[in-house]
Amino acid sequence: MPAKELDLVLFGATGFTGRQTLMHLARHVPPGFKWAIAGRNRAKLEALLPLCADAAVTPEVRRADSTDLKSVDKLVAATRVIIQLAGPYGLAGESFVAAAAANGTHYVDLTGEIGWVAQMISRHSEAAKASKAKLIPVCGFEALPFDLSALLIATRLKAATGARAQSVELINSFTGPLAFRPRDVLSGGTMASIIAMLEDGAGASLNDPAALVEDPHLADRIRQFGRYDFRARYSADVDAWLAPTVPAPFVNPTVVYRTMSALAGSKNSPFASDCRYSEALSTRGMAPFAIGQRVVAETLARGFTAMAKSVDRNGTVDQLGRTAIKQLMEWFGPKPGQGPSEKFLQQSGYTIHMKAVADSGVAAIGQAVARGHAGYRSTAMLIAEAGLLLAGGGADGCAALPRRYGFLTPASAFGAGSVPAWARAGLVFAFRP
Ligand SMILES: NC(=O)c1ccc[n+]([C@@H]2O[C@H](COP(=O)([O-])OP(=O)(O)OC[C@H]3O[C@@H](n4cnc5c(N)ncnc54)[C@H](OP(=O)(O)O)[C@@H]3O)[C@@H](O)[C@H]2O)c1
Repeated sequence: MPAKELDLVLFGATGFTGRQTLMHLARHVPPGFKWAIAGRNRAKLEALLPLCADAAVTPEVRRADSTDLKSVDKLVAATRVIIQLAGPYGLAGESFVAAAAANGTHYVDLTGEIGWVAQMISRHSEAAKASKAKLIPVCGFEALPFDLSALLIATRLKAATGARAQSVELINSFTGPLAFRPRDVLSGGTMASIIAMLEDGAGASLNDPAALVEDPHLADRIRQFGRYDFRARYSADVDAWLAPTVPAPFVNPTVVYRTMSALAGSKNSPFASDCRYSEALSTRGMAPFAIGQRVVAETLARGFTAMAKSVDRNGTVDQLGRTAIKQLMEWFGPKPGQGPSEKFLQQSGYTIHMKAVADSGVAAIGQAVARGHAGYRSTAMLIAEAGLLLAGGGADGCAALPRRYGFLTPASAFGAGSVPAWARAGLVFAFRP
């Protein structure tokens, strides 16, 4: 990569997630690191500098507006890595993707707008490969821990038995205090992104686990064996009622299947060619008593099933779907600008139960345990570490990054050798011997 003025830019630093990300970066940037915080409002950005008082290097402040293409291009061209946190991405996110692909700048974001990601891949993939840029969307709680968990548990199975995974199942449980206020679950920014995604006709991805798989034959097969099933069920494995994952059960699978497709054909892939991925949410931490947990599971299942059924061929959502979404928003939806309190950011966490099973029935089991609120504290630490890894300032002990370019998934970009980075972000993987 040619020399650039900056190693890393944090764009959208003034947002709810941006401030959390800034705090993690400030703790971990190495001496001599050249970095900047950026956004559209210089005064708001400068007001964040006290958060960096103890950083090895104070960040510069740079101004750019997502809607001003020139300012975005200038900013992105000046840096080796950009962390882009200004959503909804479908509204003004393409300028960053295009600039990163054109300028050979590595890029990470927090979108869950899978229809938008599919569009970006079709428009900018060739340019990104040509400039050797690594573009890694969906790099927060969605979908990094799930994507890495799938890769790591399948890798463990292959190392222990020599067999590839025929199925991978992940069950997430939220830990910490029970959230009764919707804003302790989601931020206004996330709600805005969900609504934008459904309104822009990109809702077709709601029914398509292969939305990010480019090989049409593999995509067709995944649509058969990977069809979504949002029904509630009881799992003896974790002794809990299971619901579709929140905030959206149609994001992580698209990323994990893209990882599988990126590795397909490699003799080192730990996944069988028709490996099935499934995930669910344990409702154990979400309501007191089994009966309450069952009600939560069934309510979420009904809401997401109605939402998926209401998507027409154009990817727009009908009236029934909008009603279901409104119900979910009333349940989960914070007011704009709101997000979880410090108590929830700090005391919440999540645990992902992982299971990979070979054709013979032999299984590998493990757990990923994360500290910090999934959507905002954990997400922020994970995307900060992702940015540092791409900029060469990652945690000690990480392996060199895989030599892949273009649109990557977290697992295909960072590989199984990146585990120490996630540990520094509070996400620790453990396997049963
Ligand atoms: N995938 C995940 O796991 C995950 C987790 C958390 C968040 N997210 C996503 O991350 C995004 C941000 O969420 P949030 O809660 O942090 O949102 P937020 O608090 O509303 O922050 C939005 C940020 O974008 C900036 N921005 C908006 N329009 C801009 C423009 N035209 N030019 C420059 N900057 C602009 C805002 O700047 P101002 O301060 O100047 O308004 C602010 O810094 C959302 O899309 C959300 O869905 C995803």
